[in-house]
Amino acid sequence: MKILVINGPNLNLLGIRQPDIYGKSTYADLCALIKEKCEKEEITVEFFQSNHEGDIVDKIGESLGNTDGIVINPAAYTHTSIAIADALKAVCIPYVEVHISDVSKREDFRKISYIRSDALDTVAGEGFEGYLRAVDILISKVKL
Ligand code: DQA
Repeated sequence: MKILVINGPNLNLLGIRQPDIYGKSTYADLCALIKEKCEKEEITVEFFQSNHEGDIVDKIGESLGNTDGIVINPAAYTHTSIAIADALKAVCIPYVEVHISDVSKREDFRKISYIRSDALDTVAGEGFEGYLRAVDILISKVKL
């Protein structure tokens, strides 16, 4: 099984960015945590982070035929991007939506998600652990 973990804008600044909301650990720490979990589960994992909507759309398209599941935190694009939602629909690869913070308890605009309706599940407000839960959801729901 191969999964792709996509992180959107400003998640490269984890550790620096609003640590009261996103914590003090870095993007590299996040990738290491997910990698460790995937190694334990004997899953191949690829990481992709971009601050650019079109690059995320391209990456989703390129995953066709070589990826069994996607864990995606589109960050601010969650609330704005029909293009990313359409790309996920187009490739039909099962995906789990993740947010580090509890978006349901923040500003109203963060309650909107263009990718939620087609996601296998959404995990929000569990910090970095939420990505691990998303991997577990993919393992349990994706039939190979
Ligand atoms: C986020 C929540 C979004 O509203 C925000 O724009 C982010 C990160 C989260 O992981 O909690 O950049 O997706």
